[in-house]
Parts: sequence; C-alpha cells; structure tokens
Amino acid sequence: MKDVHVFISRDIPEIGVDLLRNAGFTVTLWPHDRPMTQPELIAAARENNALLSMLADNIDAHFLNECRHLDIISQFAVGYNNVDIPEATRLGIPIGNTPDVLSDATADVAFGLMLAVARKMFYMHKTIARGEWGHFRPKANLGFELKNKTLGIFGLGRIGMEMAKRCKGAYNMPVIYCNRFPNAEAEATLGAQRVSFEELLQQSDILSVHSVLSDETRGIFNKAAFEKMKTTAVFINTSRGPVHNEPDLIEALQTGKIWGAGLDVTNPEPMDPENPLLSMENAAILPHIGSATMEARNGMARLAAENIIGFYHTKTVPHLVNPDVIL
Ligand code: DGY
Repeated sequence: MKDVHVFISRDIPEIGVDLLRNAGFTVTLWPHDRPMTQPELIAAARENNALLSMLADNIDAHFLNECRHLDIISQFAVGYNNVDIPEATRLGIPIGNTPDVLSDATADVAFGLMLAVARKMFYMHKTIARGEWGHFRPKANLGFELKNKTLGIFGLGRIGMEMAKRCKGAYNMPVIYCNRFPNAEAEATLGAQRVSFEELLQQSDILSVHSVLSDETRGIFNKAAFEKMKTTAVFINTSRGPVHNEPDLIEALQTGKIWGAGLDVTNPEPMDPENPLLSMENAAILPHIGSATMEARNGMARLAAENIIGFYHTKTVPHLVNPDVIL
C-alpha cells in the first residue's frame, strides 16, 4: 500500500485520529481553533491524499478541481450540503459521511426545543437574570401542554423518526409527515400518516424540520407557508437554517401568525447577537449543537475515519454519499 497522508480540517475526538494512525496513515490536523479558509484548505489538501472535512469547509467545484488528486473526502457530519456532489462524482472522488450516530442527539435537541418553546423556558430564564422574578400571577407566563398535540415532520429520515418516537412515547402525539417517499416503518410502528406539504402546514401543532437542504427545500418555510400554519403552532428547525426564511419567520412570530419557534440552525450561522429572535418570549435558539454529545461526536469521528480506512484497505466506503463513483 502507498504511503497515505490524511488531513483533518479541525481537531476531532481522538478515536478517529487513533483509528487512522493505527491503520498506518500519516495524519495531520489543522492546529487552529477556527474553520479553514478555502485557500488554506486547498494548500493543506494538496499535501495529502485524503481529507477528513467539516461542514464549514467550502468543498465546491473550484476546490474539487484544485484538489482533484484527492482519493477520498470523508465528511465529519451526516449532512454534506457544503460539498458539490455532482462535481465530486464527475471527478471520481468518493464522499463519505456519518449517518445514524447523531440521530438520537439531534432528536433530543428538537424535542428539547419543542418543550422549551411550549413553556417559554429560555425566555423565563432570561427574566430571572434581569431581576424580573416577581409575584405569582395566575394568568402570566402561560405555555401549553403537548399531550395529544399533532406532530408534523418535514423530512422523515433517521432523525425525524427519532423525534417522532419521542413525541409518541412521551405525549401520545399523532404523527403526520411530508416526505418524498412513504416511510413504511413510521406508518407501521407509529401510525404515522403521509400528507401533502399544504396539509402538513395546516394540521401540525408542532412542525419539526428534519429535511436535507436542497434546491427544493431552500426557503420553503417562508411567509406563505407560515400564513397557512395554525396560529397556535410551533415551528422547530434542527436541520439547516436556509430551509426557513428568517425574516419571514420573525414576522410570523411578531404578528402572531404562529405561536413560537425553536431553532438549532439559523440563517446565517452564526446568528447576529442583535437578532430579534434572541429576545422574543416565544423563541428558543441554540447554536447548532444537534450532534454535540460525547457519544455522537465519538461516533462521527469513528465513522469518518472508517470511511477512509475502508477506501484504502478494502476498496469500500461504508457510508458513501455518491455511489456512482468507481472505487
Ligand atoms: C450534521 O452532521 O450534518 C450536523 O448538522 C453537524 O452537526
């Protein structure tokens, strides 16, 4: 086997680095605590055979053509909207990702945001810090209960399924979903019902987004969509910020078109600290921490490394995003 040099564009959990080194590869990590610029990434990739990349890395057609020598790119994420997949496929570069290992962690964040918005938890926390913990007022600070409310899932894949299981188990929530394909498992085990996008908007009490970011989903939750939702509904997004139109969401919340919103992903990221969503009573915002558990991040490091090891040792990439490439 040739000498393999792997570049990792951020410091990842040791389990991934150890697996690569134990497989006989020379591993170099980006030493700084910030994302790489594209020129920095190109310069580093040129010195290596394989790249273990992050969501923040801009792996567009320009990068891929400058680095067409790369044997494999293995992404430390389940999502890969930062990678030009058709161009990678055209150039014959396999792209790996890290599915499954972060589904529980991300669904927990979606579930937590749902509960936090329904009970205004983030906002109430801020009132204490402002010295506003006043007397008991029977009609103040009222949220709502989730029991038997309808959960609508937009994009019912692995993470959406975990969210649906949690909502069914905890609150007996009927599940409706909008997806390109039927999900037989969800229908059999949760009684989930596939509906159109319009029906999802109209019927959901909680509408939780778990789709990929694509040309079809970019900006799909816009003014027109929020206007069709119940005025009592909560919008949750833990997938990708650009799936919702943020000014339209802010307006929908300010004008009472919907009841609340919980976001782990924003548009843009990082969110401007002056963004009105951060001070609204009916919003709960997190800084894209869906996969931020020790279990998930260790799992992601392991899978990302195994994709590279599989490529060199057995000519298989266990989690291959572009199966049309010839390995
Ligand atoms: C993913 O894996 O796509 C997550 O969004 C990164 O945490």
